[in-house]
Amino acid sequence: MIEKIKALIKETEQFAANNKEAVENFRIKFLGKKGIIMQLFTEFKTVPVEQKKDMGQKLNELKNKVQQKVNELKKSLEVAATGQDEDEKTMIDLTLPGDSIGLGTRHPISIVRNEIIKIFSRIGFTVSEGPEIEDDWHVFTALNFPEEHPARDMQDTFFIRQLTDASDTYKSSNKSVSGKQVLLRTQTSSVQIRVMENQKPPIRIISPGRSFRNEAISARAHCFFHQVEGLYIDKNVSFADLKQTLIYFAKEMFGGDTKIRLRPSFFPFTEPSGELDISCKICGGKGCNICKYTGWLEILGCGMVDPNVLKNNKIDSKEYTGFAFGMGIERIAMLKYEIKDIRLFFENDVRFLRQFEAAI
Ligand code: DAH
Repeated sequence: MIEKIKALIKETEQFAANNKEAVENFRIKFLGKKGIIMQLFTEFKTVPVEQKKDMGQKLNELKNKVQQKVNELKKSLEVAATGQDEDEKTMIDLTLPGDSIGLGTRHPISIVRNEIIKIFSRIGFTVSEGPEIEDDWHVFTALNFPEEHPARDMQDTFFIRQLTDASDTYKSSNKSVSGKQVLLRTQTSSVQIRVMENQKPPIRIISPGRSFRNEAISARAHCFFHQVEGLYIDKNVSFADLKQTLIYFAKEMFGGDTKIRLRPSFFPFTEPSGELDISCKICGGKGCNICKYTGWLEILGCGMVDPNVLKNNKIDSKEYTGFAFGMGIERIAMLKYEIKDIRLFFENDVRFLRQFEAAI
């Protein structure tokens, strides 16, 4: 039997094949269920004990040699057919086209903010920005809020720190913040003051940015949101200029057939003050659930800059007058895209975000 195995080893060593079938037949002949090796193992059971060791070793040698031969032949046939072996196949093929990278879309708040900037820049407004961390002087006092005004309440304002004395200052966006309290600005109107401190009239700016209020989060309110503030100061600026500017904005933003309505209102920093409504673009003024059956939608607050505010910033209110306005970007975006819940803007669900602009 040992001679037979030796002969089979030799046969295996010498075996060559130039196609897959021949290799497969060879494999079946030796390693198949009824193959030579199985038969030899059966015979092996009857071999006398003293021969078992040598015989077993030879038999295993044959089995390994056959297995090795089959693998070698398979691999060389593969290389001949494809120019690659199995290992190379799993390597990166640099000639393949790359995976495309999913491009994002601009956030609806950014789209609307950019559009507002574009509309006002066409009539000469430039963009000015101020810090989100502010002090009570820029957010309230300089804007003519009386000391005991309810908007300064803990209810509305996120206070950060109480300053101890005049030497205790707080740096925010490289702007020095002083006053009594350091807080998150509740309105971008604070940028009006920052600009008046640094610029002489004529001033014609808009200030987009984030504001913060200590409000319960709901479908209509959030603890942070975006606003655009506008300020125009020059000689002979009148309420008519304000009205024309707002008509222009409303028509550019919501379409040429948009009507506006100004209602009297109150803000400490403007006198007189107003609120601007636009005709409901959903029902065209007939009344629907979006405009609560009034036909009108409120979009911003505005007014003539209060002389006290000019005085606080050393601008001569006899020589100069001005108007200001402020709007919430979320509110404009909700009206423009008919979004019913402000929270959607901040959840960052891509299924929501993808709806507003084609991938860029
Ligand atoms: N700051 C106001 C707010 O947050 C909005 C506003 C109203 C801004 C009237 C103005 C203005 O400049 O004149 O509710």
